[in-house]
Amino acid sequence: MPLQPHDETWKTLHTHIDEWVAVSKTHTLEGHVASYIPELANASGDILGICLMDSEGQTILSGDSNFRFTLQSISKVFSLILALMDNGEDVVFSKVGMEPTGDDFNSMLKLELIEPGIPFNPLINAGAIAISSLIAGQSPDEQIERILHFFRDIANNPSLSVNQNVFKSESDTAHRNRSLAYFLKDNGVLDQEVDDVLRVYFSHCSIEVDCTDLARMALVLAHNGVDPIRKQRLIPRRFVQIAKTFMFTCGMYNASGEFALNVGLPAKSGVSGSILTMVPGQYGIGIVGPALNRKGNSTAGVHLLGILSQEFDWSMF
Ligand code: DON
Repeated sequence: MPLQPHDETWKTLHTHIDEWVAVSKTHTLEGHVASYIPELANASGDILGICLMDSEGQTILSGDSNFRFTLQSISKVFSLILALMDNGEDVVFSKVGMEPTGDDFNSMLKLELIEPGIPFNPLINAGAIAISSLIAGQSPDEQIERILHFFRDIANNPSLSVNQNVFKSESDTAHRNRSLAYFLKDNGVLDQEVDDVLRVYFSHCSIEVDCTDLARMALVLAHNGVDPIRKQRLIPRRFVQIAKTFMFTCGMYNASGEFALNVGLPAKSGVSGSILTMVPGQYGIGIVGPALNRKGNSTAGVHLLGILSQEFDWSMF
């Protein structure tokens, strides 16, 4: 079935979005705010906000769309793209695989179980740590600067920066990520030192944004690497294709299959309760709802996307 014309969709969204957000907000009660990074536990569990952006930059905002949060795992999509731009596909896929794991996002199970000990994909923690080490730069500081520069460009927001409190909180408590990184080092996946690569990884996870930043970043992916507002290509099409494919197969972790069935859009979640998704060729969407389900995805955010996808027949299938 062809997509409904833009004007009609936009009008319906304007009329109904607040009511849909209110319905989905009740699902925040089913989740819990992440606490394994202590600083994230300060977020209120009943928050739900959304921004939808069309290709002219018009936005529809609803709920707590001004709430600020850190990118967390959503950053992995854009660090992957930058690593691809810096190194090309062959190098990147010598360090990470292309398959979903079916395990939790911070699992180390398959690193030991299955040869050759490279992470299954770039969106699990182990894979994203391997990817961080591929970002070009003479030092971790330079790598972080390059990441910030790239993310600011995609979001068209020069003020994006690292939330130092979240960075420190994450760095101080990242025992699991540290063990993953040492495992990778031992398996010969990391050229960089463990502490250096983790600094780069925690920094990109701790970049602070709001729903509008997410929607703008998503819009560039929705348009295959072109910012339709500035009419400028920011990412080669092939690398967006790779990123969106991973989002589809692994972006919601071990709930990616369920999300594909119920929503049917490429998406990436983060433990801050954020979700970046898009309607290909049309809209960028940013959502935040810090209460998470067991798999680390926003309960209310996933619910809201279910409503929107059904209402507008957005599933790609
Ligand atoms: O490394 C971590 O655990 C966090 N910085 C990111 C994890 C995350 O967002 C998983 N998402 N659902």
